[in-house]
Amino acid sequence: MRARSALGVGLAVVVVVSAPAVAYAAGDRREPVSISPATQADAVAAMHGEAYAYAAYRAYAAQAADDNLETVAKLFRKTASQERYDHFAGLARFTDLVGSDVDNLTDAIAGERYEATVMYPAFARQAQRDGCTAAAEVFTELSGDEKHHAQRFAAARDALTDPGADQQFPVGERIPAAPIPAGSPRCTGQTPANLDSAMHGEAFASLKYALYAGHAQLAGHPRLARLFRAARSQELNEHFAEEAALAGLVRSTDENLRTAVAGEQQEATTTYPAYRDRAAQHGDSDAAQLFNELAQDEAVHASRFACLSGSVPGRHTHVHGQPQS
Ligand SMILES: [Fe+2]
Ligand SMILES: [Fe+2]
Ligand SMILES: [Fe+2]
Ligand SMILES: [Fe+2]
Repeated sequence: MRARSALGVGLAVVVVVSAPAVAYAAGDRREPVSISPATQADAVAAMHGEAYAYAAYRAYAAQAADDNLETVAKLFRKTASQERYDHFAGLARFTDLVGSDVDNLTDAIAGERYEATVMYPAFARQAQRDGCTAAAEVFTELSGDEKHHAQRFAAARDALTDPGADQQFPVGERIPAAPIPAGSPRCTGQTPANLDSAMHGEAFASLKYALYAGHAQLAGHPRLARLFRAARSQELNEHFAEEAALAGLVRSTDENLRTAVAGEQQEATTTYPAYRDRAAQHGDSDAAQLFNELAQDEAVHASRFACLSGSVPGRHTHVHGQPQS
C-alpha cells in the first residue's frame, strides 16, 4: 500500500450555492505519492462520473424493463456493470482508494460529517430560496441520515481501535432497490445543479463503501462489512434515488438512451482526453494510458447506445415490444 496523505486536502471542498456545483464530499480523496495532485483530482472526478453512470444506467435499465424493452435493459445493465467493476474499480485500484479498515472508516467519517453539517444544510437552504420545498425536505432528511452514518462509523472505529470498546456497534439495515419514477425536473434555480452534485457524491459513496465492505470482509471484520453494505444500500437505493426523482433523471427510454449517448460522447471526446493530456503533462504516463483506455471504452458505449436509440419508440414511457438490435 502506498503512503497516503492526511484526509481532506486533495480536492477543494466547496459548497456552491450560486454557481454550478461540483461539491464532492470531503474524505473522497487519497493522495498516493506517485501521481501528481492534479492527476489525483482528475481520477477522483472520474470515479464520481463512473459511479454516477453506474447508478443512472441501473435506473434506466429498470425503466426499459418496465417498458418491456429487454434488449435496451440488458445493454444498460451490462454497461452499468462495466462502469462499476472495470472503470470505477480500475480507478480505485490506481489511486489506492481502499486503505486499512481504520483508514477507510476515518475517510468515511470525514465525508459523512461534511455532508451532514455543511453540504446538505447549505443545499437545503438554497432549495428553500429556490422555492423547492420538496428538495429542501429531502436534503434536510439526508443530512440527518449522514449524521447517523458518521455516528455508526465512529462507533465502529472505536471498536476497532479500542479493545475495551463495545464490539456490537450498530450496523443499520440494508435497503432494497426501488424503481426511480420517470418524470421531469421538479426544481429550478441553483438546486438542479446541487442535486446533480449530490447524486454524484451519493453514487461515489455507495461504490466506495462496497469496496470498503469487501476489504473489511477479507480482513476478518464481517460486522464492519455489514455496516458498510448497509450504508452503501442507503446511499444508492434511498439517497441517490430520492434526489434522482427530484432531478428528473429517468425519462422515457428513448430520452434515457439519448442522454446516455451524449454523456458517453462527452467522456470519450472531451473529459477523458483532457484528463489524459493533463496526466501526460505532469509525467503521469500510467494514468494517461488509463484515461486513454477509458476514453476508448466510452466511445464504444456511445456507439452501442446510439445503435439502440433509433429503434425505440420516442414519445411514450410505456411502450410494449422489443426493439431490434
Ligand atoms: Fe466509464
Ligand atoms: Fe452517508
Ligand atoms: Fe448519502
Ligand atoms: Fe461509459
